[in-house]
Amino acid sequence: MTGTGKHIHRSSWKCPSNIALVKYWGKRDFQLPMNPSLSFVLQNSFTETSVEIHRAGEKKVEFFFDGRTSTFGERIGKYLLQISDRLPWIAKYNFVIHSRNSFPHSAGIASSASSFGALALCLAELDFSISGKETGGADFWKEASELARMGSGSACRSVFPEFALWGKTNLFESSSDEHAIALKDGINKHFGELHDAILLVDSGTKQVSSSAGHELMNNHIFQRQRIAQAHENLNELYLALLSGDISKFIEVVESEALSLHAMMMTSNPSFILLKPNSLEIISHIRRFREQTKTPVCFTIDAGPNIHLLYFQRDKIVIRSFIEDELLPLCEDRKWIDDRIGNGPDRFIEGLNTL
Ligand code: DP6
Repeated sequence: MTGTGKHIHRSSWKCPSNIALVKYWGKRDFQLPMNPSLSFVLQNSFTETSVEIHRAGEKKVEFFFDGRTSTFGERIGKYLLQISDRLPWIAKYNFVIHSRNSFPHSAGIASSASSFGALALCLAELDFSISGKETGGADFWKEASELARMGSGSACRSVFPEFALWGKTNLFESSSDEHAIALKDGINKHFGELHDAILLVDSGTKQVSSSAGHELMNNHIFQRQRIAQAHENLNELYLALLSGDISKFIEVVESEALSLHAMMMTSNPSFILLKPNSLEIISHIRRFREQTKTPVCFTIDAGPNIHLLYFQRDKIVIRSFIEDELLPLCEDRKWIDDRIGNGPDRFIEGLNTL
């Protein structure tokens, strides 16, 4: 970041992607969730974004992805317009934004969480600088999370280390539909050692975009039951995270993944996003767990790829399991070796290296 005047004109942040354990599925009003969700951030799958603002010339937004102009720039232009009620200074500046992901586009990882997370952190930092506020406190992270949510719901959970919770729940007075909160206190140390092997079953284009998917919950026959189930699963999962109850963790996490897909299969129109090999992988994971008593489970986003969750202490045995049994079921044996992460960070190098 550089400062040429009273306030900074450039901000650069690295922000991770996250994987939900209790799934956000369905919206109300503007980017508010139908139900609370809980996730953890990844360590190796992230976006680096640098935002430079200046006042000269015609007001516009230039967006470069991997050094080239990208169509994602249109979505960002629309987003900046949407949030300019909240950050009125946006209308006075031109924006030059550079961004890159640590993972390939074809990897099947949703990039909107890390992209909007990184962009929102830059905008929050610029906003705090313009208004002369310090960025170190809780109000900075809250604003970054809220701005991220306005770009992509799941992004609001990406701006915190480890576990985050988004959506109003009886569990926490401070919980909110507007932004996520960090869940740091009291989480059993086992869960600080979670690994996520992202098994890439199919990198083809998504049959249904996230926003179209969320809309399917509006008139869904199971809407009420799904909202109740998410609250119940959240309560149980949070207790399991506190007490270190790994069996409960496994039960809830798999139930959430399959419920998300059950919602898609039973919506109108209906979608089946799982592929034959997704189901094969699931049955291998369950068989392996039964036979070896190793605590592993899976979660799935709105796509065919399977996230295999396991613990650091089982790394060696799991690595052989992945190589021998699961990679033959992946597209070109592709997978991403990731783990729970420490959250976002300022990105020092700046524009030229992006
Ligand atoms: C299945 O956050 O991508 O990954 O708010 O429309 O951008 P938008 O949706 P998005 O939805 C993610 C849904 C999910 C579950 C989750 O991450 O909680």
